[in-house]
Amino acid sequence: MFITNDTILPDTHPALRQKCEPVELPLSEENRELLMDMMQYIRNSHDPEMKEKYNLRGAVGLAAPQIGVLKQMIAVGIPYDDGEELEFALVNPKIISNSVKPSYLKMGESCLSVPTDVEGYVKRYARITVKGYDLLQDKIITVRLSGYEAIVLQHEIDHLSGILYYDHINKKQPFAEIPNAQIIE
Ligand code: NI
Repeated sequence: MFITNDTILPDTHPALRQKCEPVELPLSEENRELLMDMMQYIRNSHDPEMKEKYNLRGAVGLAAPQIGVLKQMIAVGIPYDDGEELEFALVNPKIISNSVKPSYLKMGESCLSVPTDVEGYVKRYARITVKGYDLLQDKIITVRLSGYEAIVLQHEIDHLSGILYYDHINKKQPFAEIPNAQIIE
């Protein structure tokens, strides 16, 4: 499946609010292809030519329910200025530990399934440890993340429980200070 913005469901679709099922390992051919197609969307969205050709929205993560598949699978690709990318194609990812210290992105978050950004601070954990099967490395990995990377993973893993980023925004005071938080520029 070649994923474009037309493939991605908006937050009004019920699939975005469902709990996703764990995926059996080893991965079936179908699930393997699907997850690599999700990964390809992320990679394409970082490629200026592909991005323009298919009118893609730049993205650092995509979760299976966003394309209507209620399975615990996420693709993450975070580009750096030096041309390197941090990539994961995770199956059954779980946050196995987290810091007490919160964090948030100063600019707020956005999501391929949310057409108009909802403004406000999205409270996250400053540090997390994630465990899951990574298709790119073909093994179960345990990875400690902080800063922006930790936020991206929390955003994507939330999708697998039907949680959207704006659920974490203080409705009455979207920009209320979050005590003791690490602010990520
Ligand atoms: Ni999202």
